[in-house]
Amino acid sequence: MAEHPAYPVGLRLTGRRVVVLGGGQVAQRRLPALVAAGADVQLVSPSATPSVEAMATAGEITWHRRRYEDGDLTGAWYALIATSDPEANTRASAEGERERVWCVRADDADEATAWTPATGRSAGFTVAVLTTDAEDRDPRRTAAVRDAIVEGLHDGTLVAPHHRPRATGVALVGGGPGDPDLITVRGRRLLAEADVVIADRLGPRDLLAELPPHVEVIDAAKIPYGRFMAQEAINNALIEHAEQGKAVVRLKGGDPYVYGRGMEEVQALAAAGIPCTVVPGISSSISVPSAAGIPVTHRGVAHEFTVVSGHIAPDDERSLVDWPALATLRGTLVILMGVDKIGRIAETLTAHGKAPDTPVAVIQEGTTAAQRRVDATLATVADAVRAHEVKPPAVIVIGEVVTVGPDASRPQD
Ligand SMILES: C[S@@+](CC[C@H](N)C(=O)[O-])C[C@H]1O[C@@H](n2cnc3c(N)ncnc32)[C@H](O)[C@@H]1O
Repeated sequence: MAEHPAYPVGLRLTGRRVVVLGGGQVAQRRLPALVAAGADVQLVSPSATPSVEAMATAGEITWHRRRYEDGDLTGAWYALIATSDPEANTRASAEGERERVWCVRADDADEATAWTPATGRSAGFTVAVLTTDAEDRDPRRTAAVRDAIVEGLHDGTLVAPHHRPRATGVALVGGGPGDPDLITVRGRRLLAEADVVIADRLGPRDLLAELPPHVEVIDAAKIPYGRFMAQEAINNALIEHAEQGKAVVRLKGGDPYVYGRGMEEVQALAAAGIPCTVVPGISSSISVPSAAGIPVTHRGVAHEFTVVSGHIAPDDERSLVDWPALATLRGTLVILMGVDKIGRIAETLTAHGKAPDTPVAVIQEGTTAAQRRVDATLATVADAVRAHEVKPPAVIVIGEVVTVGPDASRPQD
């Protein structure tokens, strides 16, 4: 059987009976893909791992709590034989052969009538890798080939030109807090497919350097706006490039909808009739504290966290924030865009009841090589920010969570 290479095929299993024998680690690894393919999965096994059991409890598979018996493969289109009993596996294999049911065998690939390829998904493709020569089977290398293809499609290093017209329009991509590894897989793929990228100052700017030369990269802060507001000029630039039939990525820091004016851009594009897709991003409000060793919640310490913009001082009439109410909250306060106003913010919080010795951490340029953290209290934070010359972008975390991590007693930056 091993003399010829395996014949690759994609099975369409929706509603079709698939029998899985054995509820151990192999089943646990394979079941999600079978369920995702819509198969009618019948698991036969006296026991199962907690994850497999959870799938049965959730009704995703049907579990027969017993050992394999002759006849279990009746009516099956496909079977996975993975019990811990070699003798049962051999009998099941023989039944599969008799009944013409393609069978994968976890314990003996040579005896199997089907092999499971190493699979992955990217950019709308399923990548499935099998070794050609059965004698050369090397699962790690097969998985490495799969990973290389999937990764290459994700980040655009594997160039697969589109032969059908691409869907153009604008993708509003949340780029994460700055570390290029912290953008989503979807965001990275759209970036790799873009003709034009309009980027903010914040976010994963290192990724821009990797773009091929034909991609036009526009710095949003440098778009001349003449008689328009800066945001209007950005909206216009998005619309103009999209109307030329280009694939446009609007790359933003963090998440597009967290102080990112993302919805204004979505509204402008909708008004111009331009298709727009929004890719969520990892917001700095959670990821920057996390990267600095601060959990925004911690059992027994903080059951809530509130994210607040500090760009308008508490006593400014334009402020929409109820600072006195925030002072009464027990949980964590995360302040974005608050470096300039931290003195007034700390005074207001203490004036309304927050303890002056409440711990505060200020994290500048989180997740980047330049990340630094300054620790203080509400009473000292304004001086600390000045003394350490903290500059935006920075996230300010106020609350007991600041001191729960193993790094909490570290000296100030
Ligand atoms: C206009 S808001 C945009 C927030 C973004 N949409 C998000 O979800 O993270 C900009 C503020 O986010 C915070 N910020 C963004 N990236 C940061 C980083 N890498 N380190 C520290 N603060 C950051 C700073 O408070 C900065 O002033």
